[in-house]
Amino acid sequence: MLEIINVSKTFNIGTINEKKALNKLSLKLNPGDFVTIIGGNGAGKSTMLNMIAGVYPIDGGQIIIDGVDISRMPEHKRAKYIGRVFQDPMMGTSAGMQIDENLALAFRRGEKRGLSWGIKKSEKELYKEILAKLGLGLQT
Ligand SMILES: Nc1ncnc2c1ncn2[C@@H]1O[C@H](COP(=O)(O)OP(=O)(O)O)[C@@H](O)[C@H]1O
Ligand SMILES: [Mg+2]
Repeated sequence: MLEIINVSKTFNIGTINEKKALNKLSLKLNPGDFVTIIGGNGAGKSTMLNMIAGVYPIDGGQIIIDGVDISRMPEHKRAKYIGRVFQDPMMGTSAGMQIDENLALAFRRGEKRGLSWGIKKSEKELYKEILAKLGLGLQT
């Protein structure tokens, strides 16, 4: 599913601020795996996630999702293969849009966009069903 092979990242190479954040990191996740990454402040957790999402280019190694090598793929193209939720929910959502509109954006990840009706009625029902499971009253 997700495979990280020997991924390295050093920030500010050749300067006094040079910092090796990841040194030949390898990790393999299979479908259904639930993994928590723990480590002290500055251990490289965020850097690892940024490398997977494509925020910064990696220095070496490979990142593969479902057999597709995304190592050199720009962030916006990787969005087809990987999603990310931030600790601050406002960073991953459009605050000016309705909940169902936000869900519709996520639902269409990686699909071709065209001009058609925004959210179908059947979709609205699906979102309501999913939201109800959270027990937060968001479906109303
Ligand atoms: N954009 C950056 N520029 C320079 N150094 C960075 C950058 N991002 C992270 N670092 C450095 O890389 C190391 C790992 O940081 P980070 O991945 O943020 O750790 P964590 O999320 O585990 O606290 C730290 O020493 C941090 O200062
Ligand atoms: Mg962090």
